[in-house]
Amino acid sequence: RCVAVLSGGLSHERDVSLRSGRRLSTALRSVGVTVDEWDADANLLARLREHRPDAVLIALHGAEGEGGSVQTVLEMLDVPYVGSDSHACRRAWDKPTAKTELARAGLATPDWVVLPHSTFRELGARAVLDAMVDRLGLPMMLKPEQGGSALGAQVVRDAADLPAAMVGCLAYGETVLAERFVPGVEVAVTVVDGVVDGSDGPVALPAVEIDPESGVYDYTARYTAGLTTFHTPARLDERAAAAVADLAVAAHRLLGLRDVSRTDAIVAGDGTVHFLEVNSSPGLTETSLLPMAAEADGRSLGDIYTALIERAVN
Ligand code: DAL
Ligand code: MG
Repeated sequence: RCVAVLSGGLSHERDVSLRSGRRLSTALRSVGVTVDEWDADANLLARLREHRPDAVLIALHGAEGEGGSVQTVLEMLDVPYVGSDSHACRRAWDKPTAKTELARAGLATPDWVVLPHSTFRELGARAVLDAMVDRLGLPMMLKPEQGGSALGAQVVRDAADLPAAMVGCLAYGETVLAERFVPGVEVAVTVVDGVVDGSDGPVALPAVEIDPESGVYDYTARYTAGLTTFHTPARLDERAAAAVADLAVAAHRLLGLRDVSRTDAIVAGDGTVHFLEVNSSPGLTETSLLPMAAEADGRSLGDIYTALIERAVN
């Protein structure tokens, strides 16, 4: 078989994606798969029409890879690919949509408000910021409504820092997701479907516990080796470990995701698991979480993705 691994692209996470793509390509070659590495540039459509790979693997992060646009192109051309379809990607990529879906199903997610840029002009910036603090308390989390790798995301501890944090967040998109800050243990749970022998439906791999040295798992803490300590499996009691696995499988199912996803969550002091977001194209870099979960489960990236390729082409 010849598969194309797509990486790069034009998103803020281009560098991360190039690293994910390289690692995935190496892993696939090590199990005998013939791989073409493609940068997802403006020639992508023409290239796909000309070369028609047997399957496409999307190692793109950010809007193109996770927001559904590349998936739409592949669906249009009828090229098999690994991962969730365009519709599911769009729903997972939009954090408020994913949170709404999970909250409706009765799962916990930090209380939130969605604030388009225009809100501040229309209702008066001061009044809106005051209402946010009244509603969510401090500290609070600000995130671009769509985005990844914590770019633009900030923990705001003091109301005086809120305007600047808001501006920083709006640099990454038109709309801010403000969330109540839930203290606890941050975990990431990878879900795979059709990979674990004898399983019927999506299965959670061991949770990875994230312990950043600075206390905040920002872009630097994510991609600089040594700045974050990871514990795999996470140091959770049996009940909490089962709850995070159930949450990740529930998110995968509720959003209609396929093949692979990674849910990020907080386990609060009282044991409640709070959904933060789900990633349809989880990072595969040297410091990324999916590869750690795979390794802890005794699986190689090559084995996982060849199983998913077989599913995609059959
Ligand atoms: N957005 C990055 C790639 C991740 O979630 O792993
Ligand atoms: Mg993400």
